[in-house]
Amino acid sequence: MFRPIAETRPGPSLGFTFDGRAMTARAGDTVAAALLANGVAACRQTPVSGAARGPYCMMGVCFECLVVIDGIGNRQGCLVPLREGMRIETQAGRRQPDEVRS
Ligand code: FES
Repeated sequence: MFRPIAETRPGPSLGFTFDGRAMTARAGDTVAAALLANGVAACRQTPVSGAARGPYCMMGVCFECLVVIDGIGNRQGCLVPLREGMRIETQAGRRQPDEVRS
């Protein structure tokens, strides 16, 4: 469905995990772009029905890209630059006010 334009920005790759699965993406990618490049189309579940959702606008408007990053929920994946070793998880439902996963 999604694939990067490989020749436009060659460079080092960064390692991260999504729900415990090891993945790599290009340095400079956002978290949402890195997930899409790895075939992850859904990164959150809605609070009401639990329906799967994934990045849509890629510019901070739709909030469909919410994920838990290094234990902190409600992070907009399309606005967060990927870093080496990031631990990214599916956001299930709404974030609890004081949620910080260990
Ligand atoms: S993809 Fe729309 S806000 Fe991130």
